[in-house]
Amino acid sequence: MVKVVVCGAAGGIGQPLSLLLKQSDLVTDLSLYDVVNAAGVAADLSHINTKSTVRGHGRDDIDAALAGAHTVVIPAGVPRKPGMTRDDLFKINAGIVRDLAEGVARNCPSAFVLVISNPVNSTVPIVCEVLKKHGVFNPKKVFGISTLDVVRSSRFVSEVDPSIDPKNTRVTVIGGHSGVTIVPLLSQIHGQAFTKEQLDTLTHRIQYGGDEVVKAKDGAGSATLSMAYAGARFTNVILEATIGGKTGLIESTYVNLLADPESTSVFRTKTGLDYFAQDVEFGPEGISRIVPLPVISDYEQSLLNEAIPELMTNITKGASFITDST
Ligand code: NAD
Ligand code: LMR
Repeated sequence: MVKVVVCGAAGGIGQPLSLLLKQSDLVTDLSLYDVVNAAGVAADLSHINTKSTVRGHGRDDIDAALAGAHTVVIPAGVPRKPGMTRDDLFKINAGIVRDLAEGVARNCPSAFVLVISNPVNSTVPIVCEVLKKHGVFNPKKVFGISTLDVVRSSRFVSEVDPSIDPKNTRVTVIGGHSGVTIVPLLSQIHGQAFTKEQLDTLTHRIQYGGDEVVKAKDGAGSATLSMAYAGARFTNVILEATIGGKTGLIESTYVNLLADPESTSVFRTKTGLDYFAQDVEFGPEGISRIVPLPVISDYEQSLLNEAIPELMTNITKGASFITDST
């Protein structure tokens, strides 16, 4: 049995993400949890002729929704409106994510937990601290989904150079998931040398791609469809590596660096950061290794220097939301 739970399944991301996950042959049970309309979304998806059964769970049914889960994906919470930063969402989303993590600790303590809810730089430390509090934290199993930054990078570079195939060009994006903390390593694209002007334009567009969508939606929320695509891509990597037997799968994702203390100890000592988005290789237990940072350009080093203090603030804010309340 491979049960995948989507928390926030009736939302703008939750619905298309659940639809994409319904297409996976690796999933046997799709469990849809939301405080509104989970039953309706579940009834609708349950008619699709793929292997999994679909069940909807409402507000008071969190324990049944999560019981025995293999993977829990969390896109629950409020999205941005124009003029807001992701950090502005902390006030509401921190408590939502904390409560869902408590549910994970109670009902599926060894599940893979994939966090979409913003601000990801802080919500991932919240999940980790809750799991630590319950003695069930495994850093190889908790992820902030930063795949949308990778997806955007592939697409945007192909718009600058049409000879690049966006589907088969994977860009490593390190740091975190907000503004200056998003650091695309465009120097790593094989055989590609962008001009300084192209680098400036591309980097800014990747760092602020989310704002582009928030502005275009004009008060109706943030990226949902591209996020569902990115979220399904990342969830499928986890499923393929942990139960599908695939090896060598690599994605950039925001993780606790203790998942691979050996590869990250120098970086942790130098920066003081416990969480960072980096290329990760997956295996049956989740993270099999954090790929060491490649040699980066001076341009990327200065982006990284700007990202580190912001990340530190975001991480401390998330972690202390739990540690200061206990
Ligand atoms: P939305 O408002 O359309 O949907 C959110 C859903 O969460 C709603 O259905 C709501 O009922 C549900 N919800 C609220 N509280 C809940 C709770 N306690 N338990 C379960 N469900 C609950 O929002 P959206 O557009 O789907 O965005 C969701 C989150 O994802 C936002 O925080 C947004 O900023 C974030 N996001 C992250 C990325 C990323 O790259 N990581 C990309 C896009 C959006
Ligand atoms: C994104 O990058 O699109 C998301 O983080 C949503 C947002 O608020 O920009």
